[in-house]
Amino acid sequence: MSAPDAAETAIASALFDLTSGLASGSRRSVADEAVAPESLQRALNGGTEAHIGAHYADVSTRDRALPSGARVLDLGCGYGRVALDLAGRLSDDQEYFGLDPHAEAIGWARENIGKGRPNFQFDLIDVLSRPYNPDGEVDGARFRFPFEDDSLDRVFMISVLTHVDLATVRNYLEESARVLKPDTGRLVATIFLLDREVDRLIADGRSEYQLAWQVGESRVENRDNPELVIAHPLDRVLDILHDAGFPDFRVRRGHWSGRPVANVVDFQDMLVADFGTVTAAALDADEQAEALEHGALAADLVEHGVPAEHLAPYLVWALCAMINALRWESQGVEILLPSAGPGERRTLALERARGIDFSACIPATAPAGAFVPVDEASILRAVREADPRLARPALVALLGDIVHNAIALDTAARAGSVIRRLADGTERPAPIPLFAAGESLSVGAARGRFASMLSGLRRR
Ligand SMILES: C[S@@+](CC[C@H](N)C(=O)[O-])C[C@H]1O[C@@H](n2cnc3c(N)ncnc32)[C@H](O)[C@@H]1O
Repeated sequence: MSAPDAAETAIASALFDLTSGLASGSRRSVADEAVAPESLQRALNGGTEAHIGAHYADVSTRDRALPSGARVLDLGCGYGRVALDLAGRLSDDQEYFGLDPHAEAIGWARENIGKGRPNFQFDLIDVLSRPYNPDGEVDGARFRFPFEDDSLDRVFMISVLTHVDLATVRNYLEESARVLKPDTGRLVATIFLLDREVDRLIADGRSEYQLAWQVGESRVENRDNPELVIAHPLDRVLDILHDAGFPDFRVRRGHWSGRPVANVVDFQDMLVADFGTVTAAALDADEQAEALEHGALAADLVEHGVPAEHLAPYLVWALCAMINALRWESQGVEILLPSAGPGERRTLALERARGIDFSACIPATAPAGAFVPVDEASILRAVREADPRLARPALVALLGDIVHNAIALDTAARAGSVIRRLADGTERPAPIPLFAAGESLSVGAARGRFASMLSGLRRR
């Protein structure tokens, strides 16, 4: 593991310790030690976002800690992306069960996560899935979860309902309702949901998927391999959740369809369904506030022309650009952008960011005046060190400042009109590289790291 990765993991764990409402216990982070082979990551998750497991684990415990003795099912667990995170959170008396029809994925998870952890169990299920288990004998629409009624505290189905037909969605939601405990049960599932807004976004060319092929009430991306990407009608899914007996459920939309979203980490849509006493009012108010903050930021970025799937790496680029600008400022160099009137210019508005010492993000040996890439782990560390108790709204406001400055900077840089005024008054074009997804930032890595960063912020 490289040094920045180690630093990031340490910071992420510190954030968990500070803020997680989970049962305390031995907190070994296997994510450091166990990384699934790239071929497996690619086959199951398009090779992206190993850290996203933390996000879903976080959602599963929001306003509702896992009780001691908790039992968690991860249906369609793959190689254990969520388990890798939960291994650092569950105490020895809490149990995890991962089920999946992909033999290689289960084999890897058993060997690398289950070994030495008797409370982590991975089992192969023989459910038919053309992409993942083409010889499977059991139809998902008839698969009975191998658990007693009312016996589980959580069910995860992450990126699973996106690969099954509507009959299987119905069965899996009903089975989840059957096995979840009536007092503490929560389902966290991701899905692609169709509604009129999605149709409009597809027509406007904003969506990641076209979903042009109708299969029953659902739509698929690839006619020859329908289970690769399946989207289901929102209304039908809500009816199914209701009929299954969930007293409370929420839908959080992801950005796959090009929709500005509550949280840039959420690519797929998400269902969170609860049994028991639900603090829905508090949660909803909180989520709505967050939706407004993140949604407004995301909307501004999409409006600026950033493709929805590049929101997270763009934010990392924005942070990197601002940290460089602040460093130049400390060297007596100003960045000037065109302003409202002809010939008028203005400096960047970075008051909040100036309150944070980002100097450790750039090696002291970096040549003065050069643009230096900054890794996200060191950004996160600088923000944390600025004030460990920094409240979430302050962090989101900081992010807002950075995003809006970056949009102005990007617009001016594309027009070639960003100027650097040196200490002696001479002016030169500023050497700020434009945002280019996949080049210096590595989109997958940036998104994964930004996911950890945001889920860290989300815990306050
Ligand atoms: C995109 S992967 C996601 C894996 C894991 N949940 C994660 O988030 O990393 C989809 C997983 O669903 C599994 N799967 C596909 N069809 C399934 C079905 N009908 N029932 C249960 N699992 C299924 C696949 O084998 C695969 O591991």
